[in-house]
Amino acid sequence: MNQTATNKTEQSESLIVAVTGASGVAYALRLIQRLAEAGMEQHILLSDAARVVLKQEVDLTLPDHTPVAQALPELLAQHLRIGAEGMHCYALNDWFSPAASGSAGIKKMVVLPCSMGTLARIACGASDNLIERAADVMLKERRQLIIAPRETPLSGIHLENMLKLSQLGAHIIPLMPGFYHRPETVEDLIDFMVDRVLDHLDVTNPEAQRWGE
Ligand SMILES: Cc1cc2nc3c(=O)[nH]c(=O)nc-3n(C[C@H](O)[C@H](O)[C@H](O)COP(=O)(O)O)c2cc1C
Repeated sequence: MNQTATNKTEQSESLIVAVTGASGVAYALRLIQRLAEAGMEQHILLSDAARVVLKQEVDLTLPDHTPVAQALPELLAQHLRIGAEGMHCYALNDWFSPAASGSAGIKKMVVLPCSMGTLARIACGASDNLIERAADVMLKERRQLIIAPRETPLSGIHLENMLKLSQLGAHIIPLMPGFYHRPETVEDLIDFMVDRVLDHLDVTNPEAQRWGE
C-alpha cells in the first residue's frame, strides 16, 4: 500500500469519482486506489459504456443481473487490493444518492476518463443520469469539478464544450501524460496523470514527480 498520499483535509471528506466510457479506465482504477489509500470516502459512479471499457481494457466484468451498487465495491476492492468500506457505488438512476443533491455537501467531483458524450451532456446541463446530475450540482453550487477528457483528434464541438466548462469553473485536465520524468512503464504514465488530479484535489502526495525537481 502506498503510505505517502494522505488526505490534507478532514478524514471524513468525501468526493465523487465518475468513470465514463472513454479509453483509459486504468487511470480511474489507479485514482480510486490512491484515494482509498489516502483515506478518502468515495462515491463511485460508472456509466454503462464504462462497463464495456472495463471489460475491454482490463478484463473486469461486473456480474449480470447484480445491481452495480452491490457488485462494484467488492470487485474494485479485490482488483485493487484495497478495503471496500470507503467506497459507495450507485445506480445511474439513484436520484436519492448523496451525489444527486447539493444539500448532501459533497465538495469535489472528478470525471475520469471523461467521454465526449458525457462532456457534451454536462456542458448542456442534461442531468439525465446521476453522473450528469452530480456534475450539474457541482457547477450550480460552484464546487470543484475536474474533467479529464480522452479523445483524439478533438473536434470543434469537443473544444467548445471544454471551453464552456472551463469558463464555468471546471478544471479540464486532459489525459495527456508528459515524458519529462522519463517514464519507463505504462504505470509511470498513468501515475503522471493521477498525480496531477490528486494535486488538484489537494491530496498530499510527496512522491509525485514534479517539474524542476
Ligand atoms: C473500448 C472503447 C473505447 C472508447 N474510447 C472512447 C474515447 O476515448 N473517447 C470517447 O469520447 N469515447 C470513447 N468510446 C465511445 C464511448 O464509450 C461512447 O460514446 C459512449 O456512448 C459514451 O457513453 P458515456 O458518456 O455514458 O460513458 C469508447 C468506447 C469503447 C467501447
